[in-house]
Amino acid sequence: MRYPVYRGRRLRGNAAVRRLVRETRLSSQRLILPLFVEPGEGVRHAVHSMPGVFRTSVDEAVHDARDTYELGLGGVMLFGIPEAKDEQGSWAWSADGIVQRTIRALKSEAPDLLVVTDVCLCEYTSHGHCGVVEDGKILNDPTLELLARTAVSHAEAGADMVAPSDMMDGRVGAIREALDGSGFHETPIMSYSVKYASEFYGPFRDAVDSTPSFGDRSAYQMDPANGDEALREVLADLEEGADILIVKPALAYLDVIRRVKEETGAPVAAYHVSGEYAAIMAAIERGWLQEGAMREALTSIRRAGADVIISYWAREFARSV
Ligand code: PBG
Repeated sequence: MRYPVYRGRRLRGNAAVRRLVRETRLSSQRLILPLFVEPGEGVRHAVHSMPGVFRTSVDEAVHDARDTYELGLGGVMLFGIPEAKDEQGSWAWSADGIVQRTIRALKSEAPDLLVVTDVCLCEYTSHGHCGVVEDGKILNDPTLELLARTAVSHAEAGADMVAPSDMMDGRVGAIREALDGSGFHETPIMSYSVKYASEFYGPFRDAVDSTPSFGDRSAYQMDPANGDEALREVLADLEEGADILIVKPALAYLDVIRRVKEETGAPVAAYHVSGEYAAIMAAIERGWLQEGAMREALTSIRRAGADVIISYWAREFARSV
């Protein structure tokens, strides 16, 4: 296309035309807000490395969830900070666990709000790993049963959808079978299919106190250098019954989001994770960036192919449109 026949600026000259031809629109309905819940009442602790994010007790989470629903957001994703941790992470599947109690409260106070739960053990284990540990190794197969139990306990409490984030092989199949076996055939699984061993989870681990006490997660989470491997992971998960595929983190992996979307045609969610959020928020606090930078980042994730975005900025986005 040759100048002067082609003049790209004709479509940029005024706001009405720009709006008309805008290719990517982010909508509140596509955003899921993570909520961190801990024991107590009237608790609202700021997470210092994540400005605008709080750890709250169940009553306060209900308040935030109502707000989320009224703003027209897609839903919430729950993370729990348990009253106690042990070797196996048994508070993860307790009917009286913090997440199970939160689900019940949300379902009675804001029944139409979509409640998704993160299914993992790392917040609940004393060693901070996402699976059963023996001799310094994270065991795959013995972990599956614990994850399945956790997912079923969430469904029993009323969760609309479960999201396993542990990266054990075969866990989607194990969870699907356990859900079906308990009568939850219609509870979808949003699988963290493509989860990298990323530095960008740092602020989250501060928030929920889940930094591994030894080693790191690179024996189960993916190598940030790999793209083809992401396709193998999503195909395996789809075969095991995953309904929505998560790519995580998001901004540093836009190419992967695009490839997963194109290769599978399945609904794709991207998690704009704590460190990605914190980096932009820190710059905004210093006056080095404006809020538009956050909107631009989220728009790029949508443009890359994500149908759903899990974002700590979801409410701010909804308020700004
Ligand atoms: C649990 C889990 C993590 C995140 C979501 N689920 C942390 C991890 O794998 O260490 C990270 C979310 C974020 O950084 O915002 N396994």
